[in-house]
Amino acid sequence: MSTSKRRILVTAALPYANGDIHIGHMVEYLQTDIWCRYQRLVGNHCIYLCADDAHGTPIMLRARKEGISPQELIDTMQERHQADFAGFGIQFDEFHTTHSEENKQQAQKIYLALRDGGHIHTKTIEQAYDPEAKMFLPDRFIKGTCPKCKTEDQYGDSCESCGSTYASGELIDPVSVVSGKTPINKESEHYFFKLGDFQEMLESWIAADHVQPEVRNKLKEWLEGGLRDWDISRDAPYWGFEIPDTVDKYFYVWLDAPVGYMATTHKYCERTGEKFEDYWGKDSTAEVHHFLGKDIAYFHTLFWPAMLYGAGYRTPTAAYCHGFLTVNAKKMSKSRGTFIAARTYLDHLDPEYLRYYFAAKLSSGLDDIDLNLEDFEQRINSDLVGKLVNIASRCAGILGKRFESKLSSELPAPELYEEFGAAAEEIAAFYEGREFSKAIRRIMALADKANQYIADKAPWKLAKEEATREQAQAVCTQGINLYRMLITYLAPVVPRIYEDSVALMGSPLTWESARIPLLGVSIGTFSPLIQRVDKDKVAAMVEASRPADPEPAKQEAKKKKKSKKSKKSAPVPEGCIAFEDFAKVDLRVAKIIRAEHVEGADKLLQITAELAPGDTRNIFAGIKEAYAPEDLVGRHVVVVANLAPRKMRFGMSEGMIIAAGPGGKDIFVLSPDDGAVAGMVVK
Ligand code: 2FM
Ligand code: ZN
Repeated sequence: MSTSKRRILVTAALPYANGDIHIGHMVEYLQTDIWCRYQRLVGNHCIYLCADDAHGTPIMLRARKEGISPQELIDTMQERHQADFAGFGIQFDEFHTTHSEENKQQAQKIYLALRDGGHIHTKTIEQAYDPEAKMFLPDRFIKGTCPKCKTEDQYGDSCESCGSTYASGELIDPVSVVSGKTPINKESEHYFFKLGDFQEMLESWIAADHVQPEVRNKLKEWLEGGLRDWDISRDAPYWGFEIPDTVDKYFYVWLDAPVGYMATTHKYCERTGEKFEDYWGKDSTAEVHHFLGKDIAYFHTLFWPAMLYGAGYRTPTAAYCHGFLTVNAKKMSKSRGTFIAARTYLDHLDPEYLRYYFAAKLSSGLDDIDLNLEDFEQRINSDLVGKLVNIASRCAGILGKRFESKLSSELPAPELYEEFGAAAEEIAAFYEGREFSKAIRRIMALADKANQYIADKAPWKLAKEEATREQAQAVCTQGINLYRMLITYLAPVVPRIYEDSVALMGSPLTWESARIPLLGVSIGTFSPLIQRVDKDKVAAMVEASRPADPEPAKQEAKKKKKSKKSKKSAPVPEGCIAFEDFAKVDLRVAKIIRAEHVEGADKLLQITAELAPGDTRNIFAGIKEAYAPEDLVGRHVVVVANLAPRKMRFGMSEGMIIAAGPGGKDIFVLSPDDGAVAGMVVK
């Protein structure tokens, strides 16, 4: 391997084998895939590894519930996961499972090295135990009443209602989720990893730029508070690997999960003939980059580097955390149809849309990103279809119709081509630094320039006159070459469009080769590279994501509990409402998609307001004297989205449009500025 080319091993967090992949997970797998594809495009030797995280109590119990063996469950899940990832164009160099021989060997090896180094000790602890199921219970498998706010049916570690965290022993009336019986306390011996032995090592690792600044600050707090030993054993019955030289003790799933990164490297090396030591050996000069969600930073930035170091391996080059995904500014929700499985997305929409949309939103920070379904539709249609592919379709169309698809032998505007080429360095730096949204902005600004150039030259007019025919061909040649450079810059993000473009232009592209223009040759026949986002398909995807039975009784009970709780507020002066009451009002931007007169009503218009594709409200608004229906359609307004439906003489009204003014002709709906899209929360 040439010395200038970096050898890079990249991982995304291993998905649990007890559930399907959803679009929230896809943020990370796509972020990582884009980064790896960029590295390969610029010529680095970059391998993207992943595996299923196949151990632990939830997997054991789910298999039991389904009447299958854990092995059957994890095999099925692995197939499903791999199919979903492939559907999104994720290009893993190896995908494995933590329930593999390689992982067993590697996890035991690390454990024994830590034990022999004096970093493991045992201690007897007391834990919740289900006497009927004959098993110790993780906190998530105990439910009871919250000790703080007294809400019933809360998990053993935290309360969903008041947010407090506690030990499962503090729950009131605890029951085992497995058998329904009251847990008892039982003692057992556990194995602990002495994390404190690595305090100094971790302090210098953290100081040396391996984590983002926000993570470093959090880690410093943890380090200052002193590191506690980590419980790495679980008692039988447990689905995992047995701890060497023990009886009925298993590695806790989080011990062998990250070791799965190494096990997958073993499998990769066996297939390719590369050497494991070159990646993980103490003297490795390769880079190891982990991508992960911010919720699992602790495991990857404390336990994992300490385990590696303690067992004589190299430590990671970097651990990059990302934020969570919200949909239409809210937590993904089954009842709203926004808890979208990767498969459901793929059944309805082109994966390239989501790849592009996430890239346009991703930065190097930990902020959550929002998938606003209306913005999604507009952005794809305007950027990918209207700006980018439009360049190729216009120019290739004219070349095909009038010039047998032949390119001119010279560029008419070489300086413009140079300008596009000169952006490569800046765009590369954005990709390298995981500032994908900045890369996209820069590329789209260039696409605007290319479109402007074509619009100014109007090759469709030039092509009609014999005297200017050649100029038309040259302008289209320029356009095709500008497009060629742009699609190379975007190749990591939209690999399918890139591949189809390469096929159209008949020449393979790399970051460097795109700098040399394609001239004097014939290109292929243009066929559409991407379709516009179909609103109905977005709505159908949301619909397909709603549960068939939303368990109305359960939801109603939850709502009642919540409203009971919020009544406990401080005294409110007369004429005011409590902040808690105001906070209940869900003000949202909506788009009016239909407005009609209501027969027999002097003041009312019947409005269909769309909050997101598939989420519309029928609203009767008293604004008929001020607005003609046709003036309202297409307009964004502010609505109260959670007003209880009211039965009116003309039908059910499901919200309220916010307007100001004395009434009659003088009433004005509040319109947000340009840029606001339906679904946005009004703050
Ligand atoms: O949080 C999770 O989904 C874990 N399955 C991630 C494991 S990442 C690695 F350490 F294996
Ligand atoms: Zn509570």
